[in-house]
Amino acid sequence: MSESELDLADVACRIDDLRRTIDHWNYEYYVLDRPSATDAEYDAALRELREIEQRHPELVTPESPTQRVGTTPQAGFAQIVHPLPMLSLSNVYDEAELRAWAARLDRILPGTTFAFVVEPKIDGLAVALTYVNGVFDHGATRGDGFVGEDITQNLRTIKTVPLRLAASASPIPARLEARGEVYMRKRDFAALNERLERDGAKVFMNPRNGAAGSLRQLDQRITASRPLRLFVYQIGYVEGASEPTTHWDALAMLRSFGFDTTPDPALLSSIDEVWERCNWWQERRDALPFEIDGVVIKVNSFRQQEELGFVARDPRWATAYKFPAIQQVTKVVDIIVNVGRTGTLNPLAILDPVNIGGVTVSRATLHNEDEIARKDIRIGDTVIVQRAGDVIPQIVQVLTDRRTGDEQPFHMPEVCPVCGAPTHREPGEAMRYCTNVACPAQLKQHIHHFVGRGAMDISGFGEKLADRFVDLGMIHDVADLYRLDWNAIAELEGLGEKSATNLRQAVDASKAQPLARLINALGIRHIGERAAELLSDRFGSLDALMNASLDEIGAVPGLGPVLAQSVYDFFQEPRNRAVIDKLREAGVQLADGRHAPIDHDGPLAGKSVVLTGRLTTMTRSEAEAALKRAGANVSGTVSKRTAIVFAGEDAGSKADRARELGVTIKSEGELLDLLGAGALPARAAAQ
Ligand code: IVH
Repeated sequence: MSESELDLADVACRIDDLRRTIDHWNYEYYVLDRPSATDAEYDAALRELREIEQRHPELVTPESPTQRVGTTPQAGFAQIVHPLPMLSLSNVYDEAELRAWAARLDRILPGTTFAFVVEPKIDGLAVALTYVNGVFDHGATRGDGFVGEDITQNLRTIKTVPLRLAASASPIPARLEARGEVYMRKRDFAALNERLERDGAKVFMNPRNGAAGSLRQLDQRITASRPLRLFVYQIGYVEGASEPTTHWDALAMLRSFGFDTTPDPALLSSIDEVWERCNWWQERRDALPFEIDGVVIKVNSFRQQEELGFVARDPRWATAYKFPAIQQVTKVVDIIVNVGRTGTLNPLAILDPVNIGGVTVSRATLHNEDEIARKDIRIGDTVIVQRAGDVIPQIVQVLTDRRTGDEQPFHMPEVCPVCGAPTHREPGEAMRYCTNVACPAQLKQHIHHFVGRGAMDISGFGEKLADRFVDLGMIHDVADLYRLDWNAIAELEGLGEKSATNLRQAVDASKAQPLARLINALGIRHIGERAAELLSDRFGSLDALMNASLDEIGAVPGLGPVLAQSVYDFFQEPRNRAVIDKLREAGVQLADGRHAPIDHDGPLAGKSVVLTGRLTTMTRSEAEAALKRAGANVSGTVSKRTAIVFAGEDAGSKADRARELGVTIKSEGELLDLLGAGALPARAAAQ
C-alpha cells in the first residue's frame, strides 16, 4: 500500500510507529551501547519519518526524533525558576573526612542504620529536565541554584535525552523533573577540538568547558552538532505518580523511563565499603570514557534524607569525595610579576606547557616571596605542578636533584614593574605592594573590576578601552567614569559618535545598579559578590555602611573578622571616601530601595520556612526575597525543623509532608500579613 492511500489516521499510526522504533534504536545505541539496528536501517527509518512529516507538517510534534536537529537561533535564554532549588554538595578529601561525615549522620540520627549509594561525580554541567505527561516539556541549567536558563531547545538535540519517557512498569507521572549532568566523552571532546582547530575556531580547555560551551549556544544547530550526552542522577520531584522511597529505586525508575543514569552505582551498607568504592573509582578514573572529579555518596533512604536536612545549601545526606589533585612534571621557564588591583605584586611562574588532566597548564601562581623562598623555586627548575579542579595551578615541589647549576634564584623587585614606584612590604604581611596609589596597573585593574559583570556591569567598556582612557589621563579613579568628556571621546580614533553615545548610555544606566554590585565594584580587599550582598542586605545604604563601627560590621552573619576589618579600613581611608563623594555627586545610587535591611526581630526572624504551591500575588523569587528580608531561612524541603510551610494554590507533596510531621501550614494571605506591606513588591502590596 503506498503512502498516499493511507488515510490520516494510518499516517499518524505509521508516524508513531517510526518514532517509537527510532527512539528505541537511539536508546540502544547511545545508552545501552548495544545497537540492534544497522546504520542503514536507522537512516531509512529516519528518512521515511522526515518525508511523512514534510507532507503532514500538522503531525510534527516537538518530541519527534526529527526535531533533534535544531532550527533557528534564539535571541537569548529565558530564565526558569527551579521549583526546588538545585543544591550543591559538601566535599570530603580523604578517608578521615569521609568518616567524620558519616559520624555526623550517626550523631544526628543516633541508632539508625544507613545504606549508601555511591556514584561517580560526573564533571559536566548540571541540568533539570521536566516531563509533562511523559513528554519532555522544558529544561534548564542549574544557574545560581534558584534560577537557571531555559535551554529546552538545546537539550532536545542531545541523543541521550528521551523526548518521551519510555513505557515502564512505573506509571508515567503527570510531571517529573529529572536532574543530571550534561557531559562530553573524552574521545568526542578530542575529536571536536580537532575539528574546531581545523576550522580555525577556538578550542575548548577540557571536556567540561566543551560541554558548557556547546550547551549554552543560542543556535541549537551548533548544539546539535556537538557530541553531548546526559547522565541522570536524581529525581527533582514527581507529581501524579508515587515517588520511590529510596535513591536506589529512583535511579531504577529513571532508567526504566529510558534515561542514562550515572553508571555503576553501588548500594552499600557500611562506610568501609564506601571508602573501598571511592578507591575503586579513583583507580578507574583515567580509563573511563568520561571525566569524573570525584565520587558522590548519598544516604539511600529518602525518609532519612529528609530527617537529615541541610546545612546552608548543602544537604547533610550527601557528600562528594574529591580526588586528590593531578600532578605533572615540567620546567619553570621564567618568573614574572603582575600588579593586582589592590597593588599587590603577584609572582607568577611561566612553565613549559604541560597537559594536566586534560588542561594545558603554562602558568602557576607563586603566591608571594616567602612561598618562593620556602620552596626554593628558581628560574630553570624542574618542578611538580598540581592542578586541583578549578584552582589556579600551583608548584608543589622542586625536583632539586635535577638541577644543573644554571638555575637563577628570583628576587621580588624593589620597584613596581609597571610604574617604577618603590614597592613596600609591611612586617607581618606576606604580600609586597606598589606604593603608588595612582599606579596605572592598579587603576586599570580596578576599573576592569568596577565595570565588570558582577560589579557595575557596564557593557561595551572593554579592558582595552579602559586602559586607553587611563593612558590618556582621562580617568584617575573609578568615579571619573561618570565625568568623562564624551565629546572628546567621540573624537577618539576608532570610536566615533555612535560608540560614544552607546557607551555613555551604558555608563549612565550603571548609576542605578543595586547597592550590592556597587559595594563589590569598589574593590575592597577580600570583598566579592557574596560578601557585598551580605553588607547590602544588612546596611541598605553606602552611608550606613561607611559610618558603621567595626563591631557593627563584624556582627554581620557570615562575614568574619578579616573581611569586617577590611571593609572598615577601606572606609577609614580618606581617598576612598573622596571617591564615594564623587560617585554621589555624579548621581550614582548609593542606597538600595529594593534591599531593605534584614529584619532580625520580626515574627519570621530565624525561622526555617518552606514555600510550596503557586502564589498569586507575587512570584516565588519575590516571596523568597521578602522572606529573607524578614529574617527567615527559606528551605526547599520540609523537615521536623521547619517552622512554617506557606502553601499557595495546588500545593502538593510538601504540604502533605508538613501535615505528616505536624508542621504549621499557612496560606498566602497569612504570609502577606506576616511580611507586612513594606516588605512586599509593589504589585503584591496593592492587592
Ligand atoms: S547529586 C543535592 N550526583 O555535582 C545535590 N551530583 O557539587 C545533588 N554531580 O551540581 C547532586 N555527578 O551537578 C549528584 N552522581 C552525581 C553527580 C552530581 C555530578 C554534580 C552536580 C551538582 C554538583 C554538586
